[in-house]
Amino acid sequence: MFSWFKSQKTLPLVQESSYLEDFTDATDIYHYFTNLTGINFDQKESITTPKIIRFARGHGCISFYDLMEKLRVNSSIRESLINLLTVNETYFFREKGQLDFLLHHYKNTSKSLRILCAPGSTGEEAYSIAIILAEGGFSLSSIGIVSIDINTEAISRASAGVYTARALHRLPETLKERYFVMEGNQYRVCDSIKKVVDFRSCNIFEAEFLELGSFDVLFSRNMLIYFDQSTVEKAVHQLTKLAATNQSIFFFGHADLLITPAPLQDHFEHGIKYYTLQQ
Ligand SMILES: C[S@@+](CC[C@H](N)C(=O)[O-])C[C@H]1O[C@@H](n2cnc3c(N)ncnc32)[C@H](O)[C@@H]1O
Repeated sequence: MFSWFKSQKTLPLVQESSYLEDFTDATDIYHYFTNLTGINFDQKESITTPKIIRFARGHGCISFYDLMEKLRVNSSIRESLINLLTVNETYFFREKGQLDFLLHHYKNTSKSLRILCAPGSTGEEAYSIAIILAEGGFSLSSIGIVSIDINTEAISRASAGVYTARALHRLPETLKERYFVMEGNQYRVCDSIKKVVDFRSCNIFEAEFLELGSFDVLFSRNMLIYFDQSTVEKAVHQLTKLAATNQSIFFFGHADLLITPAPLQDHFEHGIKYYTLQQ
């Protein structure tokens, strides 16, 4: 009698919680996220879905449907999910051959240079470009770099400009001493380099991206690898709209472009591939 009474009391609770939660099919969440950012999770759903479930529970959601409703109306939840699911891996002097080539390409120019990093993640790429150009004798007042990223936490870290030794592992000691100030065991980018870069949170597929102005040099490295082919083409199309002239040059990461999309023409000089608009 007692055991019957006990099971009657506990059963509804168990039934209630398993009835309430439904995290079985994340398809709509993935579609929504890919439409928003371009990022495709085809091969990585098994590691990404548990992250999304933890995120949903942390925001008081009991199902993917519930999370979807919140994402549609709440921009701060949207921003947090983007910050969670974007991969921001970067470091100083990544693919440095392109930066040396940039210096070589513009060594005789007397005009100022406007440079875009889209995406720039936590800032290492934009600061590396400024350091390479400064080292090459460019006046910092003739350089303007805009570095954008969809991840707002990455942009905050970029603006702070404080890095661990790991991010600087490719930099020689002389450059660390010249362009950084030690803060405990971290490195803060010096003000003269910081002043050159304007960091903004921005999605390359949004209208605000097209309002960033026009650029002589456009870096878009290690983002297109997360997109499918038609989204790569859309992204490249967006980037080409920001070229200042037909002479503007584009750099991509070595695995970003499998084929050269139509508005671009590739060039190969001194072992470096770069692109211009078709001439
Ligand atoms: C791996 S990082 C590359 C950073 C740097 N360019 C490099 O090569 O080291 C890729 C960055 O792309 C950003 N990203 C992804 N989709 C984006 C979008 N639609 N608009 C702007 N940034 C995006 C991510 O937030 C991430 O910081």
